[in-house]
Amino acid sequence: INVTQEMVAELTAPPHVPTPVGKRKAKKLKVNMEILELEGELTSGVSYVYWTFGGSVPGSFIRTRVGDEVEFTLSNHPDNKLPHNIDLHAVTGPGGGAESSFVAPGFEKTFSFKTLNPGLYVYHCATAPVGMHIANGMYGLILVEPEGGLPPVDKEYYIMQGDFYTKGKNGERGLQPFDMQKAVDENADYVVFNGSVDGLTGDNAITAKVGETVRLYVGNGGPNLVSSFHVIGEIFDKVYVEGGSVINENIQTTLIPAGGAAIVEFRVDVPGSLVLVDHSIFRAFNKGALGILNVEGEEDKKIYSGEIREGIYLPEGPGIQSMPTTAELAETNVPAKSFDEQMTFGKQVYMQNCFACHQSEGQGIPNAFPPLANSDYLNADVDRAISAVVNGLSGEITVNGDTYNSVMTRQMISSEEVANVLTYVYNSWGNNKQVVTKDMVENVKN
Ligand code: HEM
Ligand code: CU
Repeated sequence: INVTQEMVAELTAPPHVPTPVGKRKAKKLKVNMEILELEGELTSGVSYVYWTFGGSVPGSFIRTRVGDEVEFTLSNHPDNKLPHNIDLHAVTGPGGGAESSFVAPGFEKTFSFKTLNPGLYVYHCATAPVGMHIANGMYGLILVEPEGGLPPVDKEYYIMQGDFYTKGKNGERGLQPFDMQKAVDENADYVVFNGSVDGLTGDNAITAKVGETVRLYVGNGGPNLVSSFHVIGEIFDKVYVEGGSVINENIQTTLIPAGGAAIVEFRVDVPGSLVLVDHSIFRAFNKGALGILNVEGEEDKKIYSGEIREGIYLPEGPGIQSMPTTAELAETNVPAKSFDEQMTFGKQVYMQNCFACHQSEGQGIPNAFPPLANSDYLNADVDRAISAVVNGLSGEITVNGDTYNSVMTRQMISSEEVANVLTYVYNSWGNNKQVVTKDMVENVKN
């Protein structure tokens, strides 16, 4: 009988990797990945809404071997706001799977592919605007081991670099929305390992013992910056260049392209804290691209005779901090007593709920999110605008002569907040100065 053996893939969050494939035969491997949009901490006092594969940045590590038939199920959590998909660089096929995996919130999609080439590959979301989905954390690594597996080592870890673009500058406190213009300008506020400034330091530092061999699977999600990956106080015995099959030896710094990866290996010979950096060094000491590998064990004076530092090498803290603004301190659910208050509260709702897509001046993003500034669609029908916010909106619409055919999910905000945010929108950026009341919103709801 011809039975293909089936197996559900073990998925791990960084810095961990699943069990090596070893000598197992090629199989049908089921990968179940869930997309979650989650608020997390980018650095102390600064939060960010991450879009994730599996709840972590980078996303879950997938470990396969050459010849596996991967059956990939991508589910988009119903609480999410946006459709997403996945492009795996390990896939031979249209869009690396992107076309077959496009999935709206509350749905799941299954597709399958065969792993033809061994190597370490990046995967990422490829939904428009692609750069924004990647910048928000939608990337990870998939390893395709060769027949018989990679040679065994003592410790293996998963690390991925990414650059982040926030409305406020580095260190500015509070919930920081994504800044499209800074991303287009490639002007990163944060460059980090494993999704946050503390992603690989303190309690998140990785460890090894003297004499052990360490293998790091290092990826770079970008979206923009190339990484000059270096470990202060070590030399890479081996580098699988660009994650492929060529092995280079005795390397100080290896280049990891955006959307690329490398496997580095070294034996740790002396105790201490090794510092992982992007050697574009301002990124390391000023933007967060710094991690720690703590090595414990006996000193070997022949290899290194100097004084061994105790404790951890701390990065410089994030930049100058600022006080929260009055708007940030205002409470969300107090009814507005005047037009001015409606505008203040409305702006606050806008910055928390609409800004990420419709942008700071309501200008939207071409081909993805329609403008709310000077919008003929908005100004033509206030009940339709209210409905877009409370019920969501999908299908083809035309705004200022451009067509959009996408999905806006319903916004989970109170009637009071809908009235305030739409009043703010209607009284900004050249719109028709309509005032929206709570009663008008409730009428549309009923
Ligand atoms: C469309 C308002 C949040 C994505 C619209 C429209 C309005 C609107 C009035 C109609 C078109 C126009 O006038 O330009 C708002 C308000 C929001 C909000 C007030 C916050 C309370 C969001 C968010 C997203 C989004 C967070 C993305 C996750 C879209 C999309 C469309 C749209 C894709 C076009 C839908 C289609 O093609 O049918 N929005 N929006 N909106 N919005 Fe929003
Ligand atoms: Cu996405």
